[in-house]
Amino acid sequence: MIPEIKLKSGVKIPQIGLGTWQLAGQTCGNAVKSALKLGYRHIDTAEIYGNQREIGKAIKGFPRKELFITSKVWHGNLRYNDVLKAYENTISELQTDYLDLYLIHWPNRRIPISETFRALKKLYDEKKVRAVGISNFTIAHIEEALKHAEIPLVVNQVEFHPFLYQKELLDYCTKKGIKVTAYSPIARGAVFRNDTIIRIAEKYKKTAAQVSLRWLLEQDMVVIPKASTEQHLKENMDVFDFKLNDEDRKKLGNFDQKRFVDPISISEFDTSIIDKVNSTFNHILRSK
Ligand SMILES: NC(=O)c1ccc[n+]([C@@H]2O[C@H](COP(=O)([O-])OP(=O)(O)OC[C@H]3O[C@@H](n4cnc5c(N)ncnc54)[C@H](OP(=O)(O)O)[C@@H]3O)[C@@H](O)[C@H]2O)c1
Repeated sequence: MIPEIKLKSGVKIPQIGLGTWQLAGQTCGNAVKSALKLGYRHIDTAEIYGNQREIGKAIKGFPRKELFITSKVWHGNLRYNDVLKAYENTISELQTDYLDLYLIHWPNRRIPISETFRALKKLYDEKKVRAVGISNFTIAHIEEALKHAEIPLVVNQVEFHPFLYQKELLDYCTKKGIKVTAYSPIARGAVFRNDTIIRIAEKYKKTAAQVSLRWLLEQDMVVIPKASTEQHLKENMDVFDFKLNDEDRKKLGNFDQKRFVDPISISEFDTSIIDKVNSTFNHILRSK
């Protein structure tokens, strides 16, 4: 069974979830069904992934209370009425009547975050979402968000893996009681091309993916690897029978830093993201 972590609001989140970005059609439906059979209970999606209908079909008949479903409102939909509309569309596609966690997918400085939070508070007060969080927020974004949020922000979902060790952000979030969910936790497959990680994996008789996931879990993060084959799905949850030693943990936190998800592609909405991400990034590099 996958362990759960208690969020600030009291809601429990399974520490491993199924990432579904770029899963579509029957492949998506099959991956979700296989994951549920294997014991996954946490599914990560977003309105922008275009797969909520398939996920809705795949979870149909499964006891809703046993599931933890995260979705995200796209950053072009952060006006009050747009959030409410996006939410209604999401739950209708997923064929559910609530979300366990609803995230702001990316910050958007053109829309006052207080307006977005007003809509999220309404959903939270009406028990349509059990918890609210953010995604791709830097420390500066979170500081601004915390000035306006009247409901607990419980999760920040960000890219995090051995090639993007955002330690300063993790420490900041931890101090604020915000749990970090690591997306692209196996660096979109790049961990398999790194000799140091391969050597560490061989030592523990595990794979590079398992070592990367373990490194994140040992730092108390939630991980949401995407996998479409049963073998990958199984492997990604088989990470609770070993522990990294200090030396290997340090090695995994000491690589050249690189992003695999490009914030530039959404820059037309918020050019300040690039500056902030780059400055956080430079800070990480300097502090190594
Ligand atoms: N909030 C955001 O802005 C944001 C951005 C990016 C991602 N995310 C979320 O995070 C999830 C995961 O991130 P990601 O999809 O970018 O990358 P990822 O999970 O790091 O990597 C996925 C890739 O690794 C492969 N893989 C998975 N398990 C494996 C294993 N055990 N052995 C070998 N290969 C394996 C998958 O192949 P197969 O498909 O063939 O199994 C897929 O090609 C997304 O699906 C999405 O839910 C959120």
